[in-house]
Amino acid sequence: MQSADPSWSDVDDYIVNHLIGEDPALDACLAANAAAGLPPIDVSITQGRMLELLARANRAENILEIGTLGGFSAISLARGLGHSGKLVTLELEPDYAAVARRNLDNAGQGEKVDILVGEALATLHGLVEQRRAPFDLVFVDADKQNYASYLDYALKLARPGALLIFDNVVREGRVLDPSSDDPKVPGTRKLYEMLKNHPQLDATAIQTVGAKKWDGFLMAVVREE
Ligand code: DHB
Ligand code: MG
Repeated sequence: MQSADPSWSDVDDYIVNHLIGEDPALDACLAANAAAGLPPIDVSITQGRMLELLARANRAENILEIGTLGGFSAISLARGLGHSGKLVTLELEPDYAAVARRNLDNAGQGEKVDILVGEALATLHGLVEQRRAPFDLVFVDADKQNYASYLDYALKLARPGALLIFDNVVREGRVLDPSSDDPKVPGTRKLYEMLKNHPQLDATAIQTVGAKKWDGFLMAVVREE
């Protein structure tokens, strides 16, 4: 029955019912995350499908994710990869990485995914040193304090034309407040400052509402010339 006062979450349910449907692997992922005590800060089901479609539309064969959590977005991104595609995902917490590994395997995506455990900045430095194949898509959904550094590394690791996506760049409007008591805000504001008239990147940010309330994604594409 239609609610008299539909909420953002009700509309997300409607979208899921019509456009996405049942997804036992993602349901199991969320249940396993909750059972293991992971914070419920995954992207939503509709956002996960968006990540999958962006990967597919960009014919992504190599994806880098910073911030694995329990692997919900990694499952989505891996589903958007081509057959021989690979996802490298970085996670600080070994316990989270273990949950993610099981969730990815359970979703039938495990073989496409390497989970690298440790401090992301050190792992990213290693990926640059190893000249790991350039990435077609980078999804950043980790500690916001380091977003500016993650952008630096994403630029070193992405190919011309690559798509860079950052989660949580609106935070219910708190991004506007330079003196916010949310410690995550200054890091996010620094990301926007870096992208102002950036010589190599064209960017936008899209505000979102839904099951994850009011937030947004910042997207940038590396210029080809
Ligand atoms: C938080 C982090 C996220 O990546 C997210 O999507 C929502 C909240 C947080 O740290 O509070
Ligand atoms: Mg997030």
